[in-house]
Amino acid sequence: MKGKTFYLLTYGCQMNVYDSRLIAEILSKNGYKEIKDENKADIIIMNTCSVRKHAEQRVVGRTGDLQRLREDNPDLIIGLVGCMAQNLIDTKEKIKGVDFMVGPDNYRELPKIIKGNQTTATAGCHFVPNQKYKTGLELYEGVYANQDNKVSAFVPVMRGCENFCTYCIVPYVRVGLQMRPQKDILKEVEGLLKKGIKEIILLGQSVNEYDNNKVDFPGILKMVSETSVARLGFFTSHPYYTTQKLIDVIAEGENIYKWIHLPLQSGSNQILKKMNRKYTKEKYMELICNTREKIPNISITTDIIVGFPGETDEDFQETIEVMKEIHFDFAYMFKYSDRERTAAYNLKPKIPEPVKTKRLSELIDIQHKIIHIKNEQLIGTTQEVLVQYKGRKNNVWRGKTKQNEIVVVEGKTLPGEIVKVKISSLKGWTPYGVITDKRK
Ligand code: SAH
Ligand code: SF4
Ligand code: F3S
Repeated sequence: MKGKTFYLLTYGCQMNVYDSRLIAEILSKNGYKEIKDENKADIIIMNTCSVRKHAEQRVVGRTGDLQRLREDNPDLIIGLVGCMAQNLIDTKEKIKGVDFMVGPDNYRELPKIIKGNQTTATAGCHFVPNQKYKTGLELYEGVYANQDNKVSAFVPVMRGCENFCTYCIVPYVRVGLQMRPQKDILKEVEGLLKKGIKEIILLGQSVNEYDNNKVDFPGILKMVSETSVARLGFFTSHPYYTTQKLIDVIAEGENIYKWIHLPLQSGSNQILKKMNRKYTKEKYMELICNTREKIPNISITTDIIVGFPGETDEDFQETIEVMKEIHFDFAYMFKYSDRERTAAYNLKPKIPEPVKTKRLSELIDIQHKIIHIKNEQLIGTTQEVLVQYKGRKNNVWRGKTKQNEIVVVEGKTLPGEIVKVKISSLKGWTPYGVITDKRK
């Protein structure tokens, strides 16, 4: 099998993006070669997501499309890894045309699995026993993701979730809270900085729950901010674990993004309770007020679900009111998707699809207007921008402000530079500006 090529396809969240690079590293160390053309690959690995039905349907569709490659390459191996793979393993389901499935805790086994298994597409899919690692330590030990971005990198500090929000599949497919030791986190960070990485985003399904060896999340955030990293952020924080101490660390860290993602999910207390979110609308508003008081220019982003079982028009109106009151800088908005195995699966009444669609589009409209108003206020201001990559036109670049907001900038620069930019207009709602000065 040595010398064989693999192609990686990634769905889902930032954790999957990181995991794919970890898989790339594990396979490369074992003699496999990553290529970017699926048509030429000996092995195709799809890193999958299970959070909404749509995410799973896309993978099923893609698996079907990929079967055409078997005509020219009968030895082609197609594997599913990640959250959806774990979900299928646990529920003992199979999808046609897949040779093996491996869940998120078993990536260290991949070389063995690939080596030991010829294509089984005709014989039926090979399951990898659900062997969970005890801690994140074992999964990461001695291997760091082969990051392919030259400016930014994700660094997980913990894996898994035990919050059991009633709509969410994650605690079933990424089981247990696995805390990564500080030493290991810092070693990965230092390695990335040596390679010239400028921005680090600390990752975890509920990242601010981090607690290991007497170090909590504000502690690890502070530790990483004391390295030479130019920009530091984290994702995703749960409102329930967001403490004053965390807000203070964000306020004080010169290199820490003035940005926090705080998924609200719903503005109705009865829905929040049914979701098992562990906070009320009032508590959430209080957190926003305190955060803005301490860091007035902080960007606050969120996730919202519409059409959770039992959501009435009044509940939905409450969500709208909270959104209008808070004015989020950005929101990811979703229609509730019924996931088997979760508690909400058994909750009734389910909201009809057309009602969910209508609510979602109403909410998106409102949020888009809010973003437009917010971004208009940036016109005429000067922002410090970390240049991330080249745009389509010459001398046009994409970058991020200290609020983690994407801007388009024009001028002479290179990815990784921090430049001063005067915002002059909006393109769509994206702020657009011209470089006035270079900081580095
Ligand atoms: N760990 C993160 C995010 C997990 S998934 C957190 O706790 O915030 C990202 C988002 O997907 C969630 O915040 C939620 O808004 C949405 N989501 C999760 N399960 C969903 C479901 N069954 N239907 C619709 N949206 C869902
Ligand atoms: Fe899912 Fe809730 Fe855990 Fe986030 S905190 S991953 S929404 S169970
Ligand atoms: Fe999806 Fe798994 Fe991330 S279910 S959102 S890929 S943790």
